[in-house]
Amino acid sequence: MTASFIAISYLVCAVLFILALRGLSSPESAVQGNRLGILGMTLAIMTTLCLPQVASYGLIVAALFAGGVVGALIAKLIRMTALPQLVAGFHSLVGLAAVLVAGAAFFEPEAFGLVHEGRISYGSLIEISLGVAIGAITFTGSIIAFGKLQGLISGSPLVFKFQHHVNLLLGALSLVIVVVLVFNPSPALFWGLVFLTGLLGFLLILPIGGADMPVVISMLNSYSGWAAAATGFTLENPLLIVTGALVGSSGAILSYIMCKGMNRSIINVILGGFGGEQSAGASKAHGDKPVKAGSAEDAAFIMKNASSVIIVPGYGMAVAQAQHALREMSDILKKHGVQVRYAIHPVAGRMPGHMNVLLAEANVPYDEVLELDEINRDFSSTDVAFVIGANDVTNPAAKTDPLSPIYGMPILDVEKAKTVLFIKRSMAAGYAGVDNELFFRSNTMMLFGDAKKMCEDIIKALENA
Ligand code: TAP
Repeated sequence: MTASFIAISYLVCAVLFILALRGLSSPESAVQGNRLGILGMTLAIMTTLCLPQVASYGLIVAALFAGGVVGALIAKLIRMTALPQLVAGFHSLVGLAAVLVAGAAFFEPEAFGLVHEGRISYGSLIEISLGVAIGAITFTGSIIAFGKLQGLISGSPLVFKFQHHVNLLLGALSLVIVVVLVFNPSPALFWGLVFLTGLLGFLLILPIGGADMPVVISMLNSYSGWAAAATGFTLENPLLIVTGALVGSSGAILSYIMCKGMNRSIINVILGGFGGEQSAGASKAHGDKPVKAGSAEDAAFIMKNASSVIIVPGYGMAVAQAQHALREMSDILKKHGVQVRYAIHPVAGRMPGHMNVLLAEANVPYDEVLELDEINRDFSSTDVAFVIGANDVTNPAAKTDPLSPIYGMPILDVEKAKTVLFIKRSMAAGYAGVDNELFFRSNTMMLFGDAKKMCEDIIKALENA
């Protein structure tokens, strides 16, 4: 294949990736966006296989087969609720790949055509250093994020004294090593850089807890993109540079949007440990405060007699896979003349757009699904807020308790509705580990049980009424 044909083919891939990102920006066009992305990636792999540098296909085919089998198995076996930790795991692999490619280029520069006048050029050493630094931060940071999301490491902020100073010192030391390494490329300095930046990634993510993990996931997504771009420079592959930059910048934009949505500072996110300055233990004991518990029949009666219901889905709906039963329930309510709408919090569930995807899967009409800003004012004029498996995103501690790890995060003002129905299995706290005082309010009724089962029981009660 000629160089110009490869360049044109890569250009087409880059355009397809940009169109894919555009498609993924809205639930209506997401499927089309996904298809364009798959097409772009297939073309990219085929074109790369035609590069003149490819010496033997044996190893490539073996790697494609092994990766394909592992990917297919994961796609089949993974539970929807475990996707966030899977994404974090994948990010760590991108980071590791960047470190390995940079290492290969550093120790075998001839194989990469990087040797000029008997030494690796300054430019290539800068690219290698960037690949190592971003890759190692992404690798260790993503492993910690994986551990936190999987519940292997405590979700509470793990804070220690002078953590920002230590992070800054590590960052400055890494920068010094990069400068020295460019002029004196010794293996000891290379490994020193791997160690320091790996430690930095670890320390940046470890202190982050509770409700701030969503921002971390998108930030690591961005880092993994920049790590891939750095690899692209080392391998002199323009498509990898473009793709990495697309992932890096879209991840950075998403982090910025999420920071705004969560009322957090982007600078603090980059420095690590945001949210960690607050007290980790903002969970208050509620002693023997009374809780009003109701049945499916009670809920059916209240909602059938309401004129408007706002449904607030959360992580528990995803766990119970209750979206289909929920849609069926709201169809019945609509037949009874009740206005039904859905309120989506930007970080409800465990990944961006989690609730939108589930509701779209259950064919909930898009015009009934509203973002926090669009619907929050309507709770005060609503009869029923039907909270299904959501907790943190409704917790007023975010407005009232400066010591709470979720303080400052905007929340859905469900308590302003005449009646608040909470479906959950117990009095347990949500992801951030903060008790929700709404459970004890006089206008709240708890519906204890699995979200799907409870919706099915409410459907039965509505049909029998
Ligand atoms: P959470 O605050 O985690 O609350 C979910 C609630 O669902 C839990 O209190 C749980 O109570 C209940 N639940 C679990 N399984 C259930 C089932 N089968 N049936 C009924 N209820 C069930 O969820 P949220 O309100 O959606 O808030 C999301 C939280 O996750 C935020 O703190 C957010 O920052 C964090 N987070 C979000 C993301 C993204 S990007 N969205 C990523 C990482 C973390 P029981 O155990 O009593 O049933």
